[in-house]
Amino acid sequence: MALLGCGVVGSEVVRLLREQAADLTARVGVPLEVAGIAVRRPDRVRAGVDPALLTTDAQSLVTRDDVDLVVEVIGGIEPARSLMLEAMKTGKSVITANKALLAEDGETLFAAAREYGADLYYEASVAGAIPLLRPLRESLVGDHVHRVLGIVNGTTNYILDQMDTHGAGFNDALGEAQALGYAEADPTADVEGFDAAAKAAILAQLAFHTPVTAADVHREGITEVTAADVAGAKEMDSVVKLLAICERVPAEDGRNGGRGVSVRVYPAMIPRSHPLASVRGAYNAVFVEAESAGPLMFYGAGAGGAPTASAILGDLVAVARNLAGGSRGPVEVTYAKLPVLPMGET
Ligand code: HSE
Repeated sequence: MALLGCGVVGSEVVRLLREQAADLTARVGVPLEVAGIAVRRPDRVRAGVDPALLTTDAQSLVTRDDVDLVVEVIGGIEPARSLMLEAMKTGKSVITANKALLAEDGETLFAAAREYGADLYYEASVAGAIPLLRPLRESLVGDHVHRVLGIVNGTTNYILDQMDTHGAGFNDALGEAQALGYAEADPTADVEGFDAAAKAAILAQLAFHTPVTAADVHREGITEVTAADVAGAKEMDSVVKLLAICERVPAEDGRNGGRGVSVRVYPAMIPRSHPLASVRGAYNAVFVEAESAGPLMFYGAGAGGAPTASAILGDLVAVARNLAGGSRGPVEVTYAKLPVLPMGET
């Protein structure tokens, strides 16, 4: 296996692979061995990471013959996209946590996975440790999902929670979230809602089997939320939360597919008695409403090194089992071509 990136999440992946090597080998049937780790600054000391594995030549690493799967935790659009495409072209499976890329240009990756017969798993891209994409992609694929709604960004939830509980200032709370390893490299992605919008696009696409990109998502971040807003909500026994809402908009004639979908991210005031109000710190919570399954609730750590690495390890075991057994994981199909309706048309 090759690892692209060794920051907060990548170093946790390395630690878990080392500490759980015997169990993972038993679960997969063959050992999961790291052949190399591509980083920008190999001279930086990374505790628990063998410096001999580090390389700056990611391109050569992903095409090496002794690499059969590639884990991408660099983030951003390039070079992540080119490296993953190169890996799939040379027959390797890919695991990624890259929500920005999946939401901007997931179709290019999905098309490559289809064309080259590669597995493409991305559980860690949405809601950290919470198993959410696999249930949507596999368990609920036979159902008809109406709505996915929740808190999908840990950094903003941490900030809003600190403002609500301790009366903390926005910038202090953001600094703490960064120090705890929750925030994106550029925290603008968190506080302006881009990260949540990317996750909402991924969720909507999986839930409704229709193409949705980040550009389709109506987005408002939390930078305009003031201490006075949070205090005002408190007086009304409410809290401010950044919500992601993905909905199938019913057709007037009752057509099953619906008139289209609506995907939006914005800060909302919700009553303290609502289950989402009790989501604290960097935790995430997502409700899924499906025709036959009814309402489902997913809750857990939505950000941070170890929780995100847990999701990656789950994908790693799944992909390694597929490789060992000569099988493949699910392939993305967006057969429904539902329009994404702008705000105001829903
Ligand atoms: N910055 C993201 C968050 C990390 O705060 O939720 C997990 O995707």
